[in-house]
Amino acid sequence: MRRALPVELPRFRLGQLPTPLHDAPRLARAIGVARILVKRDDLTGFAGGGNKVRKMEFLLGDALAGGADTIIAVGGPQSNAVRTALVAARAAGLDPIAVMYGDPPAERDGNLVLDDLAGARLVFTGQADRASMEPAAEALAADLRAAGKRPYVIPRGGATAVGDAGYVDASAELAEQLDSLGAAPAHLVVATGSCGTQAGLIAGAAWLGAPYDVRGILVSRPREEAVPRLLELAQATADLLRLGITIGPEDVRVEEGFLGPGFGIASPEGAAAQRLALASEGLVLDPTYTAKAMAGVIGLINDGTIRPDASLVFVHTGGEPAVYARSH
Ligand SMILES: Cc1ncc(COP(=O)(O)O)c(C=O)c1O
Repeated sequence: MRRALPVELPRFRLGQLPTPLHDAPRLARAIGVARILVKRDDLTGFAGGGNKVRKMEFLLGDALAGGADTIIAVGGPQSNAVRTALVAARAAGLDPIAVMYGDPPAERDGNLVLDDLAGARLVFTGQADRASMEPAAEALAADLRAAGKRPYVIPRGGATAVGDAGYVDASAELAEQLDSLGAAPAHLVVATGSCGTQAGLIAGAAWLGAPYDVRGILVSRPREEAVPRLLELAQATADLLRLGITIGPEDVRVEEGFLGPGFGIASPEGAAAQRLALASEGLVLDPTYTAKAMAGVIGLINDGTIRPDASLVFVHTGGEPAVYARSH
């Protein structure tokens, strides 16, 4: 039986849930581990939004409950979170605006194609520094408020306690699926960027007494930044949902060393993992997040952290539009 969240937050349904959980036996054999179960959150079924769809259901729910009429989504030009937020805003009848760093790219590819199709207004800060986005979004929100509008700002990655509730809910969904398979995997591996997905999974695992540890493969932030952020977000999410748990440092496991040349730039290990996942199981991994996460799985098997006789869950968080993008 699926465990219900103790607090029912406002939710605007977008996704096709539950997503499948299935074995990837050829991939498991190829990388030398007993069992890989793939949680197909690339198939959440709304605007190709992957993991972000679960967050947007709660963020849009919160925005609507607060009477918002505009969504301001903050993130890079190839942000999956921004694209999903913009389309979700449209679906909810709100005005979609994005605040992005840099200048408008000459060529609109990947996620930007969908941003355009959604008819969203894209505001570029004109500065290469990502930190230029937050003040620009706040200034825009202030201007809109002064003009009588009611904007709701979705920060980078949708990483707030409200958004991360989507991954506590996903944990309950996964627990039910594992139960029906009689599976008790020792590990769960996920790509970690803004930290919200992993934070929700950590809170969910602690709440449910899950058999697996939650391991985040860092694809953008250094460990020193990610660990306190994960602790804070996981606890805030647990508190918001009144899960009655305390998250400790022992719950927060992140792996550095799979970032490669940098955020949004393909790594050789990631490219190899991408080819392997495609050729063995037809899984399409993206260069920024999921290919590096799979490279992390392979690295953890090779260094003995994940034993050859172990079972694991790999959360496929989506990101497919970036596979076809030249700009990042
Ligand atoms: C495809 C994909 N996978 C993983 C992540 C990482 O999730 P989070 O930002 O919650 O850490 C993101 C978000 O940026 C993403 O777009």
